[in-house]
Amino acid sequence: MQPMTTPDLDRKALLDRYRRNRARSEHIFGLIADDAFYARPIPLRHPFIFYEGHIPDFSFLTLNQRALGEPVIDAPLERLFERGIDPGSLDDAKRLDRADWPSRREVAAFALTCDERVENAIANARLDDPNVPRLVRAQAVYTVLEHEQMHHETLMYIVSRLDAAQKATASQAHVDTAPPVNRMQTIPAGTATLGADPDEIAFGWDNEFGQHAVDVPAFDVMTYPVTNADWLAFVADGGPPPAFWIRRDGEWRLRGVFEELPLPRSWPAYVSHRQARAYAEWAGLRLPSEAEYHRAAFSTPAGGERPYPWGADAPDARHGNFDFQRYDPAPVDAHSHGASAWDVHDLIGNGWEWTDTPFAPFPGFQPMASYPQYSADFFDGKHFVMKGASPVTARELVRRSFRNWFYDDYPFMYAKFRCVAASP
Ligand code: AVJ
Ligand code: FE
Repeated sequence: MQPMTTPDLDRKALLDRYRRNRARSEHIFGLIADDAFYARPIPLRHPFIFYEGHIPDFSFLTLNQRALGEPVIDAPLERLFERGIDPGSLDDAKRLDRADWPSRREVAAFALTCDERVENAIANARLDDPNVPRLVRAQAVYTVLEHEQMHHETLMYIVSRLDAAQKATASQAHVDTAPPVNRMQTIPAGTATLGADPDEIAFGWDNEFGQHAVDVPAFDVMTYPVTNADWLAFVADGGPPPAFWIRRDGEWRLRGVFEELPLPRSWPAYVSHRQARAYAEWAGLRLPSEAEYHRAAFSTPAGGERPYPWGADAPDARHGNFDFQRYDPAPVDAHSHGASAWDVHDLIGNGWEWTDTPFAPFPGFQPMASYPQYSADFFDGKHFVMKGASPVTARELVRRSFRNWFYDDYPFMYAKFRCVAASP
């Protein structure tokens, strides 16, 4: 008897998505000057040349070699590009440094071979097999697709740090308006459902499973994220300037992805977890837990929970600043269609939102077959959960159960925050 396969596995859609991902990677690498490929604008990340090899290598290793058992292409290159580094310590980063990266031409040839093999597998191989752990629910191919999309975002963090002379410019209009009044909204006590049921999403990473309910006491939450205008008041009182700010002639300016701008007061402040926590303490408030974020975003006054803050409609440009509509932020009140049932705004897009929840497994966590280290290596109490999305987070990653995480002291992500307080 033929084992059951996922009925709606659409090879053409998967292949299209793979090609769109490759085109976006090419676009991003095309923004970078040739002489910058061996530079490390963020010392705790690899140089760009690593990512040019890593993305196709990871796809080939995950799908063709490990899930489908196909033969190697080039074992030393496969090993060289296998895994990125987490910005743990400068010492670790130095240890992983090397002077003898292959040439871009050599990497491009390797990437092309990986692409041919991956595309061939997506078009022809058995992607879905309930008897092969890496192929259950077509896990390997989705792992490949979402992995590349996440790297689009982490690449943009590094592009942001390049000097203007080392990158192209992209045309985007910037809007800055008067920041909205940021009131506190009471969210009554209720349930937050964390995690996904594998039957309700086509794919999820291992850290999303183990769906469970959390009882959340009543709390008050800011209806908008903390803006650059808000952060200026903190700086005036001795607070630290964000890594995205530059001081010139006595004025604060913003380092946009491609150009320097007069500080846009209505944009969210992008800060590290430690900085966000310092702000909250200064304001007599605290950061939300992951479950509180869920309550503010997905619960309703009637007692239900919805897939997105705005309801059940598929995410689009009206709902928030995500999916590469632009590279830089927008005013925090620019997307009223994306507000939650509690009128809490800008929860998805315009920067990930920090929570005060250390990244940790949900009950019953099992490392995923396709990438067992994906989450497990980071359950160390030093990484914190981020929810939502940034301007350069792909639409496909916008889902309630998706959990992002970074080191508490890493200041280069597109991460914003809002504060909460005990309900009076
Ligand atoms: C989930 C964004 C924290 O970039 O460190 C990419 C994603 N893991 N390749 C990271 C990832 C392996 C990861 N984050
Ligand atoms: Fe990676």
